Amino acid sequence: MGSHWGVNFVLFMKGYICLPLSMPQEASYNSRKDPRPLEDWQNLTFKYMEKIQKRRKTWLTVGISSVQQGDRSSLLYTLVSLFRVSSKAEQKHLTVLVHLADSDLTWLRETVAHISSLFSPQILKGQLLMIHAPSDAYPTVDSVRDEAFCGEFYSKQNVDHAFLMSFATKLSDYFLLIEDNAFFAPNFVTHIHSRVNTMKSNSWVLLEFSNMGFLGKLFHSRDLPLLAHFLLLFYKEKPLDSLISHFRMLLVQESPILCKPFLFYRRVSYTTFDHKQKATALQKKNADGPNNPPGAVFTDMQVSDVHFPWEAYTLDESFFWTHNLSTGNHLTVILNHPANLSRVQVITGSIVDGRYALEKGQVELGYEPEGVPQHCTSFALLGHLLEGQMDQEIYLKGMGYHVSCVRLVVTAGQAGGLMIRHIYLWEKNHK
Ligand SMILES: *[C@@H]1O[C@H](CO)[C@@H](O)[C@H](O)[C@H]1NC(C)=O
Ligand SMILES: *[C@@H]1O[C@H](CO)[C@@H](O)[C@H](O)[C@H]1NC(C)=O
Ligand SMILES: *[C@@H]1O[C@H](CO)[C@@H](O)[C@H](O)[C@H]1NC(C)=O
Repeated sequence: MGSHWGVNFVLFMKGYICLPLSMPQEASYNSRKDPRPLEDWQNLTFKYMEKIQKRRKTWLTVGISSVQQGDRSSLLYTLVSLFRVSSKAEQKHLTVLVHLADSDLTWLRETVAHISSLFSPQILKGQLLMIHAPSDAYPTVDSVRDEAFCGEFYSKQNVDHAFLMSFATKLSDYFLLIEDNAFFAPNFVTHIHSRVNTMKSNSWVLLEFSNMGFLGKLFHSRDLPLLAHFLLLFYKEKPLDSLISHFRMLLVQESPILCKPFLFYRRVSYTTFDHKQKATALQKKNADGPNNPPGAVFTDMQVSDVHFPWEAYTLDESFFWTHNLSTGNHLTVILNHPANLSRVQVITGSIVDGRYALEKGQVELGYEPEGVPQHCTSFALLGHLLEGQMDQEIYLKGMGYHVSCVRLVVTAGQAGGLMIRHIYLWEKNHK
């Protein structure tokens, strides 16, 4: 849970103060002898709800639960993206509920201070609510710690989300669950609204507007008490996304409903270059990290003498730097052998503030290589960049098989610098 990183992190915000923040050696949950009985929960959240009962009910609540972690600024970026892409009219139908689910008081204070300074208009309008579960909402300290020790941080995450959902029940008609490192497609509220209008209300339990983890899952708010209860019963059994799928099946929606185009994406973390932290992050992700099969990189973009095209296809922090792009410019990875891919991620823009990103571009997969030098003879569109990034799992079987090329194509010219940080590929069944 990041509590053992005894390092200092720096929070960067564009045009904002840089604060050195200390991480505590250990996050502490106040201990309590008995687990809280489930019936207490509704009473507990109700007690906190009373104060805001009188506020107007909105159409949609976006719920985010966040704990402190290596990337201090991701929650802030998530909120910035959320409000930036929503029009004034959309914001009227929107409540944003943030559960600051970490018991470290320094972190709480600083996070609240940052959010308040950036979003005071939204807070005053009651559009943005911040909550923090009291420590007695949590099961005994030992059971949570034991899980954490086994590397299964999801127990606490499940309880964090049970509180978030329980709290959100009466705020609106629909509830959208988001992760704390997301970015949003423009006018997502309108898109979700029209999607919901085309569905019969009783024909669905869960609509999915992303295919990652528990990002972009839409529920009827009326189902939230039951879902919160369900999470509290099984919080030790499984990670949140699996519990959510189970819940959907329990309420007899047999197959997932994926709503495309996806409206939510994970922001790749803008972490500081701390090696200890990187090692930890890599270890954590190792099981499902990218593996970039061997290949060569070609481009018709301008090549500078310091950051070469192939640096976009390495697994380290190096990158390709270019400038002044025209429509149709491309950067293409040609694999030595055709591969079966399960996921592709392309990230452009600087780590600190996302500058030098490719504003308009798309990623294509290529097949049937020919000629000398080799080139692919057919291509299929995989996805468009959003805020300079694309991260897509490949579900269509035919599409991911025997891929020989992965190509980033510029779809609108842009002046100035461009930083292509990486193209990451995941092969199916690669261990
Ligand atoms: C919950 O609240 C109800 C009524 O407000 C009360 O009767 C009940 O005893 C409370 N339950 C617990 C476990 O505190
Ligand atoms: C990019 O284009 C601008 C104007 O079109 C020009 O002034 C600048 O020198 C170009 N940059 C490079 C590095 O070629
Ligand atoms: C890719 O998948 C196809 C179909 O399942 C299989 O025949 C082929 O061997 C796989 N190729 C690689 C490189 O794993």
